[in-house]
Amino acid sequence: MGLSIVILAAGKGTRMRSALPKVLHPVGERGLLEHVIDTAENIGADEIHVVYGHGGEIVPQTLSARAVNWVKQEQQLGTGHAVAAALPSVKAGNDVLVLYGDVPLTSETTLSALMAEYKRTGFGLLTVALIDPTGYGRIVRDAVGKVLRIVEHKDARADELRIQEVNTGILATSQANLQKWLGNLKNDNVQGEYYLTDVIAMAVADDIEVATSQPSAEFEVLGVNNKRQLAELEGHYRRIKAETLMDAGVTLRDPARIDVRGTLTCGPDVEIDVNVVFEGDVKIGAGTRIGANCVVRNSVIGDNVIVLENSVIDQSTVGDGARIGPFARLRPETELAANTHVGNFVEIKKARIGQGSKVNHLSYVGDALVGANVNIGAGTITCNYDGANKHLTEIGDDVFVGSDTQLVAPVKVGNGATIGAGSTITKEVEPGVLALSRVKQTTINNWQRPTKKSK
Ligand code: UD1
Ligand code: CA
Repeated sequence: MGLSIVILAAGKGTRMRSALPKVLHPVGERGLLEHVIDTAENIGADEIHVVYGHGGEIVPQTLSARAVNWVKQEQQLGTGHAVAAALPSVKAGNDVLVLYGDVPLTSETTLSALMAEYKRTGFGLLTVALIDPTGYGRIVRDAVGKVLRIVEHKDARADELRIQEVNTGILATSQANLQKWLGNLKNDNVQGEYYLTDVIAMAVADDIEVATSQPSAEFEVLGVNNKRQLAELEGHYRRIKAETLMDAGVTLRDPARIDVRGTLTCGPDVEIDVNVVFEGDVKIGAGTRIGANCVVRNSVIGDNVIVLENSVIDQSTVGDGARIGPFARLRPETELAANTHVGNFVEIKKARIGQGSKVNHLSYVGDALVGANVNIGAGTITCNYDGANKHLTEIGDDVFVGSDTQLVAPVKVGNGATIGAGSTITKEVEPGVLALSRVKQTTINNWQRPTKKSK
């Protein structure tokens, strides 16, 4: 018997006040619904059905790469109606777990515990006790604590409204049970909807014990209806990521001020200062320090690297012992070898900088191959773009590039060459020579500086 997971995601999300369907809004690096699909895959679903509606095709279009079955619910007539829409595609005889597309942070541990309860009795219901249960369906139990039914907030009597144990919406039962029950749902309630929650009383009538379990933490069952709740869940996600890093030995100057939107893997003794954002896949080697206000995206940083504050590292590789920033920008396809230095206001793009080379101040190096032990002086620019195409600059080992040099690509500079400050290099520079393209300095004696005319 396999596991079918049905994810309900057809709600309008009006309170997000956004043109984007609610389930596509991100928490961390992924949309709400993607979190839920990933969780469904991780707990071993052998089929995933996503019920979508409002926002029409944008949801399946955006997530077209995902291996899920998309079920369109034309009209949102309630949670029971939504599950019924998916039921014809659910494999006969399977277990069924219902999740919500706008509840992104449910852990695998919590869902495994729920599935264990389902296996025991035939019905598992995830519930939680809330200090303020307003709006939620209440769990009605008898005198000995047996679950009898769920009453929605809007349909509840005063005594029922005092119940603090609520329905999270997440439940597990069999395809066979749903097949039997969903057809009998009625919409004779205050909201005129087909409530999935009415199957609880049907289970009880069929002598199936509705076994309940609780999430490991309350935030795991929180849904998103507005931007405040979205930000609240982002905060929980940020904290989970920070705690995982600290548990792995990473030093965070302030765990509340780091964002990991993706996967960050760190070696031992990594230190991260405040307000650093990591995106995508980032790997950091042992002993490396990342300064305040940096953004690092899809990059690999070696051991004992120092990244000083306000630097941006995007799709780049940084060798051991390198020193970057402050205020450096490494754009995609930058490769810095070991012990390189890239200083302030330096932009590097699609370039390889060899071992021990330095680009310390105010330079642009793009589409370039730079050898080892090269010094690139302040204000050097590779003129890589002719208005139509990009061209390569090749610099050998042990080259000294004087300040304020323009290297007009395509151009090559041989090993050990020296370029005088202020040069515009348009032709190949042979190894070992001094190249200079500088207007000779002239002196005008007895020159008078203009003075202001008196009125
Ligand atoms: C539902 C539960 C309530 C529970 C609460 C937890 C019912 C009747 N009530 O109430 O007991 O405490 O969730 O948040 O189930 N959806 C569809 N199609 C529909 C209606 C809803 O796909 O026709 C989806 C929504 O996108 C959402 C989820 O189902 O992801 C829950 O719908 P919502 O309207 O938020 O249910 P509540 O009234 O909050
Ligand atoms: Ca809701």
